[in-house]
This record gives sequence, C-alpha cells and structure tokens, in this order.
Amino acid sequence: MIDISSIAEPGTPEDLLVRRLDLQQLPRHVAIIMDGNGRWARARGLPRVEGHREGVSAVRESVETAARLELEVLTLFAFSTENWKRPKAEIWALMNLLKEYIRRELQRLVEGNIRLRILGRWRELDPSVVSTLMRGLEATAGCDGMTLNIALNYSSRSEIVDACRRIVSDWAEGRRADIDEATIGRSLSTSGQPDPDLVIRTSGERRLSNFLLWQAAYAEIYVTPCLWPDFACASFLEALVDFQGRQRRFGGLEEGVQGEPEVGPGLAASAAAEGAREPR
Ligand code: FPP
Repeated sequence: MIDISSIAEPGTPEDLLVRRLDLQQLPRHVAIIMDGNGRWARARGLPRVEGHREGVSAVRESVETAARLELEVLTLFAFSTENWKRPKAEIWALMNLLKEYIRRELQRLVEGNIRLRILGRWRELDPSVVSTLMRGLEATAGCDGMTLNIALNYSSRSEIVDACRRIVSDWAEGRRADIDEATIGRSLSTSGQPDPDLVIRTSGERRLSNFLLWQAAYAEIYVTPCLWPDFACASFLEALVDFQGRQRRFGGLEEGVQGEPEVGPGLAASAAAEGAREPR
C-alpha cells in the first residue's frame, strides 16, 4: 500500500498531483533520458560539469519518488556510447559523479530495498568505475523492491548485437532456443524485467537516441521542456498524470470501440498471406 504522505506534504503541489493519480494503475517501468544538463549550466554562466553535478540531485529525487510509488523498474540513461565524443575532462567528471553517487547512496539504496542493475557495456569502463559498480551490484543483490537500472556506455543497437551474439554462441554450444521475440528479450540486458511503459525525455528533444529501442516498442513517450537538473518530484508526478491520461491500444482498438462487423474471407486470407504484420 503506497503511503501518499511519504511522497508529499498535504496541500503541496506534489500532494495535489499524487491525488490525481490512480495508484493502482501506475506504470511498472519508467525509463528516463536525462537531458539538458549542459544548457542548464550555460544559462547560469557555469561550466557544463556543474549541470551534471546538479543533475545528480535530480537523479536522487527521481529514484526516491519512483521507490515511494513502488514502481518495479526505473531506468536512467546516464552515459551513451556516443558520449565518448565529449571532451575528456567532461567524461572524467561524469564518471566521478557516478562513482560518488554509488558510494554516497549505496546505504540508502540497500535500506530502500532497491536493487541496482547496470545496462550497457559497463565492464569496458575504467577499472575504478567497474569496481564501484560491482560493489553496488553486490551490495544490492539481495534487494527485491524496485530495480534501478543505470544505462552506462549504453547503446540499444549494440545491446541487440550482443543479444544476437549470445544466442549464436548458445546455439554453438547446443543450447538451441527458438529464435523469437521471447528469446531476444531474454538475451537483452533488461532480461526478466517488464518493458518500459513510459519513456520520459527532458529538455524538449524528441528523439529516442538509441535508448531501449527493442524494449520501448509500445512505451508512451513523454517529452518535457524541463532541463534535467530542474526535474523534481513534481515533474515526475506530472509525467505520470499525463501517462494516465493516454489510451494505450497496443495496436488494437480503443476499449469499447467495435471493429467492422465482418471480415470477408478474402481480407482474412490476404492478412494471413502478409504474415500478420506487426500492429502500429
Ligand atoms: C545529458 O545532458 C546528460 C548526460 C549526458 C549525463 C547524465 C548524467 C548525470 C545526470 C549524472 C550522473 C548520473 C548518475 C546516474 C548518478 P547534456 O550534457 O547532453 O545536456 P545538453 O544537451 O544541454 O548539452
């Protein structure tokens, strides 16, 4: 049972937003493309790294909000494979912020029963980052509340390539699973998790940027002009209110709407001949 008072003080804007939510119909998995740290810093005449530093507070607040709402999974896109094109000093600062976040928050994650999982080719990162991540993974391995996925050195296309390689090597060793959606889903780094229901992107950009392309096939996408360092609990709740106002059809029809009464044999046959293309 979700305790509303743990999320918001009575009468605050957050409280009003929580009361607009149907707490029984929350998304199981929310994924966030955290964007706009650089613009946040530039607007204040600060170096870009200050935007990232402030972004860590927004990370903390989003993790707490998601955990209090008892979401099953929160995924944060922290560093893409494309981010290696940034200046070395910025990359170094980002990695340090990440290590600092894990070190400082680990106790709170464990107390909050939050399990950490890392998506992407994170084992290729600097050994000091890898060892901090390993510590985080080990310390939270027994937690069975919310899962916090941090996507690091992540690209959805390389994740799919890695999944294919895994399946091929399993085949070579005699473990021959059917090549179907379930097998591919199981071979991704989000294996065992529900697909994201909602993808949030801050800073107004309307792109998926190589993030969870397979998993987000039916996700609702919410774009807010808010820059990531300003993304607070109320911003998260606004996204959830918006999500709950959407009609999710998964390629079918709106609930209560009847289709055409009859599909003639000719139509049915041509649909079958086309191999029942994926609904959009
Ligand atoms: C995008 O803003 C943000 C990033 C590339 C990094 C996000 C990282 C953090 C918030 C800090 C560390 C993460 C964790 C999980 C502790 P941008 O720099 O592309 O902004 P811009 O588009 O305005 O330049």
